[in-house]
Amino acid sequence: MKNVCVIGAGTMGNGIAHVFAQCGYAVSLIDVSQDQLNKAIDTIGKNLDRQVSKGAISLEIKESALRNISTNTSLAAAVKNADLIVEAASENLAVKLDIFRQLDENAPTGCILATNTSSISITKIASVTSGPERVIGMHFMNPVPVMKLVEIINGYSTAKEVTETIIDLTRKLGKIPCVVNDYPGFIANRILMPMINEAIYSLYEGVAAVEEIDTVMKLGMAHPMGPLQLADFIGLDVCLSILNVLHEGFRNPKYAPCPLLVNMVTAKKLGAKTGEGFYSYTPGSKDLVVSKRFSK
Ligand SMILES: NC(=O)c1ccc[n+]([C@@H]2O[C@H](COP(=O)([O-])OP(=O)(O)OC[C@H]3O[C@@H](n4cnc5c(N)ncnc54)[C@H](O)[C@@H]3O)[C@@H](O)[C@H]2O)c1
Repeated sequence: MKNVCVIGAGTMGNGIAHVFAQCGYAVSLIDVSQDQLNKAIDTIGKNLDRQVSKGAISLEIKESALRNISTNTSLAAAVKNADLIVEAASENLAVKLDIFRQLDENAPTGCILATNTSSISITKIASVTSGPERVIGMHFMNPVPVMKLVEIINGYSTAKEVTETIIDLTRKLGKIPCVVNDYPGFIANRILMPMINEAIYSLYEGVAAVEEIDTVMKLGMAHPMGPLQLADFIGLDVCLSILNVLHEGFRNPKYAPCPLLVNMVTAKKLGAKTGEGFYSYTPGSKDLVVSKRFSK
C-alpha cells in the first residue's frame, strides 16, 4: 500500500494526512474548498514544526512528510491510483453517501474505502457501493498525530482480509487498533456521548456550574479534561449529531440530547471552533474561561 487519499481537509483530515505522510505514504488530500486545503497544509506544517522542536521527529522527516502531500479539489481524478481512501468529510449522511457513490465509480477495484465517521452506520455507507466488502470504519481520534487509538469498525459485509489489512496498517502508523462492530455510536461515542449529555443535563438542571462539573470529573475520575470542555473541543454540533444518531438508532429516550445542547447549537455557540461554548476562547490564549452565559 503506497497511495492514500484523504477526503476532507478539516480538523480530522489534516491530522490523518499528516500521520500517513509522516510514515512515508504518498497522500492526496482532497476537499471541495481550496481555502480549506491551504489551511490544512499550513496547519500540518505548524504541527510538524512543533514535533521537530520537541525532538519527536527530525527536520528531514518533516520535510519529506510535507513533500509526500499533494492537494486536489477533484475527487474523480485524485482517487484513480489510490490503494486506500480515508473519507473524513463533514458528518452528514447525504455528503458521505454522495462521496461513496463517486468512489465506487472512480476508485480502482482493489482499493479499500474507509470512513472516519464518528457515528454514521458503515453498513449504510457501504450500501451505496457495488462492493460493500471493501468498506470499513477507520475512526481516528482528535488530535490525530497525538492520539494512539484507531477504532476499526466492521460493516455488516466488510471482508475479513480488509479488516486484517487495516489492523496492520494502523500498527504501521504507530497506533493501536481496536476492532468493533457496526451499531450506533460504535464503542467510543456510545459511551462518551451519554456522559457528555449527562454533564450538560447537570448544568441545565442547576445541579452544579461548569467549573464544578468539569473539576469533579477531572480530579475525581482522573479524566484529562472535563466533559464540558471536551464537548467544546469536539464541537457541540458534532456532539448533537452523534446523540441524534444514538437516539434514532436505538429508539431509546436515554440518548435524547439535552435541550440546552440543542439551543446552543441553534444559537451557533459550537465550542472552541466558534470561540464560545461552555467556555469562551480567545485566539492565542490557553486560559480556560467559563463563558459569560454560565459564569456564577
Ligand atoms: N472533530 C472530531 O473530534 C472528530 C473525531 C473523530 C471523527 N470525526 C469525524 O471526522 C469527520 C470529519 O470531521 P471534522 O471535525 O474534521 O470536520 P470539519 O468540519 O473540520 O471538516 C470537514 C471537511 O470536509 C470538507 N467537505 C465537505 N463536503 C465535502 C465533499 N463532498 N468532498 C470533499 N470534502 C468535503 C469540508 O470542506 C471540510 O473541510 C466527520 O465524519 C466526523 O464525525 C471528528
